[in-house]
Amino acid sequence: MDNMEKLVRERRSVRTFDGRELTAADKEKLCAYMETIDNPYGLPIEFKLLPKMGCPVVVGTDLYIGAKIKDAPHLNEAFGYAFEKLVLYAQSLRIGTVWIGGTMDRGAFEKAMELSEDEVMPCVSPFGYPAKKMSVREKMMRKGVKADSRFSFEEIAFWNNFNQPLTADAAGKLFLPIETVRLAPSAVNKQPWRIIVMDGIVHFYLQRSKNFNGGRIDMQKIDMGIALCHFELTAKEQGISTEFVIEEPNILYKDGMEYIASYKFKI
Ligand SMILES: Cc1cc2nc3c(=O)[nH]c(=O)nc-3n(C[C@H](O)[C@H](O)[C@H](O)COP(=O)(O)O)c2cc1C
Repeated sequence: MDNMEKLVRERRSVRTFDGRELTAADKEKLCAYMETIDNPYGLPIEFKLLPKMGCPVVVGTDLYIGAKIKDAPHLNEAFGYAFEKLVLYAQSLRIGTVWIGGTMDRGAFEKAMELSEDEVMPCVSPFGYPAKKMSVREKMMRKGVKADSRFSFEEIAFWNNFNQPLTADAAGKLFLPIETVRLAPSAVNKQPWRIIVMDGIVHFYLQRSKNFNGGRIDMQKIDMGIALCHFELTAKEQGISTEFVIEEPNILYKDGMEYIASYKFKI
């Protein structure tokens, strides 16, 4: 697999595919990889290939992969972490994906996933080879959510308290793990992740956007899971050892913020 920085920089949402079916070899690789995917919450997640599906924003493929998880605390963060691993693996095979949590016939996908009452299917993604040109609709969607822009490093990263932005220079070895969070996909590109670095520990907070209420399925907590995935995998690659913990620190945070999780680290 390519390194995390490369994968994260190259990935973008793909909604226009070239019509070719995935090769048997690529399908096999995806299926084998799906079996190995873990998450820091230890919640089992079941992935499933869904042929012959469709959704309004996607053209040029009818293969989707969905995943389901038992209703439990932290299901969204666990799901975000795990599904993003699959997205990044697909990227390493040059297979296009796009997280879909809203623009789909949820009932049809839940049926295809054979969802039982105690299970949740937060998101799905189409899988296929990206077309050379984006559809007009896709271009408009990207413009609508400013999909090519991200907050600056200093807007999402802090040290010791939320009044002290962390500069890219001062981040040292933590630069890349945080940079790959900064470049992550998020629902409607709201980028709700905030990171605060303290002595030997990095805390992740969710800055809740308007109109994104938390429920059983919570898109912004899925975003947080994606952020944890990028941080942890990049840190590992950089030779930084991490330990996942849920230990809320006693620090002041802003209105609309919520503590999610932390990584203790050793550089
Ligand atoms: C949890 C989640 C849900 C999303 N749901 C949808 C969706 O329903 N429809 C869609 O077209 N894009 C969806 N997206 C894709 C985002 O709009 C996209 O990631 C963001 O605009 C940034 O663009 P990029 O992925 O090309 O970097 C979702 C992304 C995430 C992380």
